[in-house]
Amino acid sequence: MSAAGLAGYRPKWYICATMRILLLTHSFNSLTQRFFIELRRLDHEVSVEFDINESVLRESVALYKPDLIIAPFLKRAIPESVWKKVRCIIIHPGPRGDRGPSSLDWAIMEHAPTWGVTALEAAAELDTGPIYASYEFQMRQASKSSLYRNEVTEAAVKCLHTLLRHLADPSFTPGKLDYSNREIIGTARPFLPQRARHINWQTDTVATVLAKINSADGSPGAPCSIAGRHAYVYDACRETHLTGTAGDVIGKRSGAVCIGCTNGAVWITHARLHNADNRGIKLPAEHVLIDCPETVSELPVSLWQEAGTFQEIYYEEHDRIGFVHFPFYNGAMSTDQCQRLCRALAFARSRPVTIIALMGGRDFWSNGINLNTIEAAERPADESMRNIVAMDDFVENVIISTNHLTVAVMQGNAGAGGVFMALAADYIVARRGIVLNPHYKNMGNLYGSEFWTYLLSKRAGRDVQKEIMQHRLPIGPETMQAYGLIDDVVDCPPGEFTGLVRRQLLKMLPDAATLIAAKKRERNRDEAMKPLSAYRTEELGKMERNFYGFDPSYHVARYNFVYKIPLSRTPLHLALHRKKN
Ligand code: COA
Repeated sequence: MSAAGLAGYRPKWYICATMRILLLTHSFNSLTQRFFIELRRLDHEVSVEFDINESVLRESVALYKPDLIIAPFLKRAIPESVWKKVRCIIIHPGPRGDRGPSSLDWAIMEHAPTWGVTALEAAAELDTGPIYASYEFQMRQASKSSLYRNEVTEAAVKCLHTLLRHLADPSFTPGKLDYSNREIIGTARPFLPQRARHINWQTDTVATVLAKINSADGSPGAPCSIAGRHAYVYDACRETHLTGTAGDVIGKRSGAVCIGCTNGAVWITHARLHNADNRGIKLPAEHVLIDCPETVSELPVSLWQEAGTFQEIYYEEHDRIGFVHFPFYNGAMSTDQCQRLCRALAFARSRPVTIIALMGGRDFWSNGINLNTIEAAERPADESMRNIVAMDDFVENVIISTNHLTVAVMQGNAGAGGVFMALAADYIVARRGIVLNPHYKNMGNLYGSEFWTYLLSKRAGRDVQKEIMQHRLPIGPETMQAYGLIDDVVDCPPGEFTGLVRRQLLKMLPDAATLIAAKKRERNRDEAMKPLSAYRTEELGKMERNFYGFDPSYHVARYNFVYKIPLSRTPLHLALHRKKN
């Protein structure tokens, strides 16, 4: 099916006329990107406006004249002058009746067993407008960001579809926020103050520490003091084998640190220094929390999956299939992580398996080189080069794994080089609903590497290559499949995806030997036509210019990205209404 054909596809229940929809959002975050993809798939005309200030918003409404405004991610109320003119629907990450700016944070802190998402109309008082849709989900022990990217996003998309159906139904009346109604299960809650999440190592149990860190991920982070340093900490898990004095650093592993608690220990993978100017960079915890890393012992790590401890990369094997998991925080892959991943792949290749499944992580497949560790390096240009070389080493090793069938299992979102990395595998399977950004343009027009010049044209030909590289918008896996860049898209809840893929891989085993033989022949042919080393040299030559040349665009874009410098206007590729004809 062609990409154009897909754009015309409408699900059976679809009855709503196409609308002109403005997505009003604090930033173009993953949920907003998912809405953008869904709405365009349903043939709606979509434009985006960042919530910068009231007059800019009013201007955008005057320019675009939307039929509907949807706000998937807002940090403040929509002004009355706007919601009185156009119907504005807020996507609130809480169940019916829940109100306030820290919904999910509270749900995690209070160990709520279920939570929800509600689509409600903007009104004079925050989160009190008529209710158009609401979906609930089971809470999982996970970070706020992980819940947001999985359960919240899926429930929000269900709300979006229900909302569109209701809008097309003249007999539909939205629900009222009436706390005497038993269907209204939430309540109004204030902003969750940071002091509520401050970790007290002397009194907090492991469960409390995890709840505090999970509820503060990825922003603002849980404040605490470790070895005399004040920091915000992120991404933690329980350690069940080791114990130590509460608040002490017990050891380190793969950049993470293990800290003793009153009743056990936790691993913390990332931290940001609590500076006076609040401008610390989120980095592997070891670099932020430990003064003299050499004095803290590196705890041994096995590549084989182990329960009850922290493993940044791990391996498991079933029925001649090797699974390499690499759930890197935020999908960012530093030089060190790429090098360790190369070693894990080498291990998988040495095992008696036929298929190697590259699993990424639940939240992200990969977002390419690690812009934070690069920004923090003494010489960011040198570190950029080292990082992209390490990334290329991994991709090359996947390409030359000609004794195995390699499968990229895309459970979560991917961006930039991370998307092209997946193309190195022989077979690519993605979960429907993930968001892909297969372009480097937003990072200061980076040329990009990861053998994209080879992999794109090999899989999809020159025309698609051109179209993809000129694009700078998110796309869904179905469109990637239509381009020939993904082989299979599985429509299922996030929690069921890997189980379904495992069963699918088992079915591939009988044909694997034939596929491997064909792949070997193809690789030899490709190598004879143009060696991989030539692609690498050409791409890295262009990247060298991006890193060391006169044009500082990449360095500026990276700085703005890492320090989260807010944009002063919505980029024109998103704000259709601001484009001059
Ligand atoms: N390096 C370091 N951190 C990264 C990263 C990278 N390559 N990609 C994403 N992150 C971090 C973000 O800073 C953010 O951090 P936070 O937890 O402190 O908020 C977090 O991952 C989530 O990213 P966010 O942008 O909020 O996610 P998203 O799903 O809304 O957007 C992308 C996804 C891929 C569009 C966006 O993250 C992006 O443009 N990343 C950069 C990709 C890139 O240019 N890589 C380098 C070239 S290969």
